[in-house]
Amino acid sequence: MPPLVEPFRIKMVEPIPFLSRREREDALAHAGYNLFRLHASQVTIDLLTDSGTGAMSADQWAALMTGDESYAGGRSFHRFEAVVRELTGFPHILPTHQGRAAEHILFSTQLLPGQLTVSNMHFDTTAANVVMSAGEPVDLPGPDSADLDSEAPFKGNLDTTALRALLAGSDGPRVAAVVMTVTNNGCGGQPVSMGHLREVRDICDRWSVPLWLDASRFAENAFLVTQREPGYADRTPRQVAEETFRLADGCWMSLKKDGLANIGGVLALRRDDVARVCAQMLIATEGFTTYGGLAGRDLEALATGLLEVTDPAYLSYRAETASWFGDELAKAGLPVLRPTGCHAVYIDAGRLLPHLTPHQFPAHALACELYREAGVRCSEIGTLSFGRPDPHGGPDRPATRELTRLALPRRVYTRSHLEYVVDAGRGVAARAATGPGERIGGAAAAPPRFRATLEPCEAGA
Ligand code: F0G
Repeated sequence: MPPLVEPFRIKMVEPIPFLSRREREDALAHAGYNLFRLHASQVTIDLLTDSGTGAMSADQWAALMTGDESYAGGRSFHRFEAVVRELTGFPHILPTHQGRAAEHILFSTQLLPGQLTVSNMHFDTTAANVVMSAGEPVDLPGPDSADLDSEAPFKGNLDTTALRALLAGSDGPRVAAVVMTVTNNGCGGQPVSMGHLREVRDICDRWSVPLWLDASRFAENAFLVTQREPGYADRTPRQVAEETFRLADGCWMSLKKDGLANIGGVLALRRDDVARVCAQMLIATEGFTTYGGLAGRDLEALATGLLEVTDPAYLSYRAETASWFGDELAKAGLPVLRPTGCHAVYIDAGRLLPHLTPHQFPAHALACELYREAGVRCSEIGTLSFGRPDPHGGPDRPATRELTRLALPRRVYTRSHLEYVVDAGRGVAARAATGPGERIGGAAAAPPRFRATLEPCEAGA
């Protein structure tokens, strides 16, 4: 297939709004400089997230019409169950309304107070659900992830030296599970290699600790393995995905990503006893075991999406898009995290706006500038989202890096939409070194990323 030709044609369209600069300035001020508070009708190109924002295929829309809405034992559930079982190899399949519901069910039933979960990087809802179960999430990203510019192929890996040391040390007995997030969203959407997963599996076996996957972007990880890992070039993404799941004791997925649908999640487990208590919690919090928090029609769309998503033509277009987009943004003057993955391009805002301190939220300031410039919405992955309170009462501890994420909804925007974003990026990059920062203006509201009201502030203020 020629690179970067969308492997689909468009059958249904939605108009997108173009606002004047003045209208965008007003909208941003009205939203308290928090892009989550904008109305979507004020956004021209929405790269806030790749979650639930994709376009379904004709086959998925057709499947939707066949949904069986029976409360118990619906045909659609059995189809969904069979598809997930065959993909993952796990016998117990519990549908949930989205990924975080699966996280809540797993952690609230499997963690004891004071236990640790260790991960290549917990997504923020994952960490929040561990904390809500009185556990402690420990992130051990691999050493390669620290260098944002290197072309290391598997920056999503975990620091296995640190994991071994943790398990062998005095905190070892507190470790309840290892969680591998594939791809690693918090570390720039970077993949995890199969060789590495096998090593983590061995460590887990040695210490009798379960290995769970946050497999929300399993197909994208599998595709990047076929491209980057020696020995995998001849495998299909589907084969790599199957091998990935079989290395774990269970997984959850936000199916709003590689389920190619607008809503959905799943918890898939190997052990009968774990599945039994999770099913009880599912019934109490989500719904009966044969629908979870979903309608029968959602289960149909998801079953079809999970079969489509490992199509090599689709995945190669997806990776090519991210790679091309990253290269163009870099040419436009924005420092882009290398190498690009599939679901987003991340910009190193700390480097682009060195005149701002982490507490002036450079990655958020950059996101606001992109909106002002062209109505492009994206998100902050920096101190606004991941700053942590200082235990000694000082200013919040800054995040380790200040990234602005331009997420790519699946099958939604064409290359010319992204060219429009690159043009906006060029304008913003040219002025970046003198632009304002942001500070929290109104009353503190948690979590700040979603709810805080901010206001522009001068550098150094
Ligand atoms: N795990 C990962 C790796 C995620 O990226 C997300 C969501 C979740 C779990 C939670 O799943 O949203 O279905 O409840 N990520 C979105 C994002 C919100 O924008 O990256 P959910």
